[in-house]
Amino acid sequence: MSHLILSLSIVFLLFRASFSDAIRPDLSCVGRPHANVTLTAYYPDFMSEDESDYLDSRGKKLRTLQEFLDGRASFVTVAMDEVFRLKYGSVVCIPELNEHFGKMIPLQVRDHGPNLIGKGYSRLDICVRSEADSYDTAVNRMVTLYTTV
Ligand SMILES: *[C@@H]1O[C@H](CO)[C@@H](O)[C@H](O)[C@H]1NC(C)=O
Repeated sequence: MSHLILSLSIVFLLFRASFSDAIRPDLSCVGRPHANVTLTAYYPDFMSEDESDYLDSRGKKLRTLQEFLDGRASFVTVAMDEVFRLKYGSVVCIPELNEHFGKMIPLQVRDHGPNLIGKGYSRLDICVRSEADSYDTAVNRMVTLYTTV
């Protein structure tokens, strides 16, 4: 009897695991995973005299996470190591962010920063609306980063 209960529980757990995975298959990422990547947030400073404080590395507007969530941007600007292999506009994906916000967050590498030099895949900065938004723990944590290269 206890064997039956045990195997039923295992069947139930397996079913539940595959069911919960199946709920949001759209939130998983594909590509090459990089574990233990430090995600931090930055925000545009429109008062600055230095354009790089509110424009990306090609002089385009920074697209913030909040603009994307509000439907006012089609992607979110992220910054990575400049000397790295990801070229301007490269798409990257972070499952932890997708799961936190309950939707796919399309990230594009379009910016750099002196704080990222030499960090390779180990660091990624995401652009958010304001200083207040930059303190959200959802954008200040260790994540898994999926890249195409
Ligand atoms: C990530 O960090 C954890 C905990 O420190 C460690 O066990 C694991 O080996 C690390 N993974 C990689 C790929 O560095």
